[in-house]
Amino acid sequence: MDDLALARALHVLAIVHWIGGVSLVTLVLLPGIRRNVRASERLELFEMIESRFAFQARISTVLAGASGFYMTHQIGGWERFASSDFWWMHAMFGVWLIFTIVLFVAEPLFLHRWFKDRAISDSEGTFRIVQRMHFILLGVSLVTVAGAMIGVHGGVG
Ligand code: HEM
Repeated sequence: MDDLALARALHVLAIVHWIGGVSLVTLVLLPGIRRNVRASERLELFEMIESRFAFQARISTVLAGASGFYMTHQIGGWERFASSDFWWMHAMFGVWLIFTIVLFVAEPLFLHRWFKDRAISDSEGTFRIVQRMHFILLGVSLVTVAGAMIGVHGGVG
């Protein structure tokens, strides 16, 4: 097995773990908590479960980015970023950048505090915003996965 195949496997494993986790939080955890847990208990329960995933997602994001940049270098793919035919390469980089900023910069600096403070004063409204944001990020991520699969295996671009 060559380096490229190994990097590809690592890339896909990291994406499965990371976007799979985002799916679970978006489609199961958030709606379940909003529907079944009292407003006063939501924050603690959500934080207990989500913070474990946020830690793991940081590792997956780093692995996905490192393997992605390595593959781009190995296949001489940097010039793809200059062509709109390879929109899915831009999409991969864009999704990675958004999550990297959220997980490594925004959350520790202000997002976590904003969420906590707002959830205490308006649980319903805050969880609605958080779920909507997760929906948007999940949608963009899934379109990116489909685009990358078609781009790599479907002969588009
Ligand atoms: C810094 C960020 C990223 C870079 C530089 C990157 C780069 C790459 C490269 C070079 C390939 C192989 C392309 C080829 O064989 O022609 C690839 C494959 C792929 N990437 Fe990314 N990627 C990144 C992030 C992501 C993200 C965030 C996702 C999902 C949301 C993603 C999903 C995929 C998928 C599904 C494949 C196809 C794997 C296969 O079947 O061969 N990538 N990526």
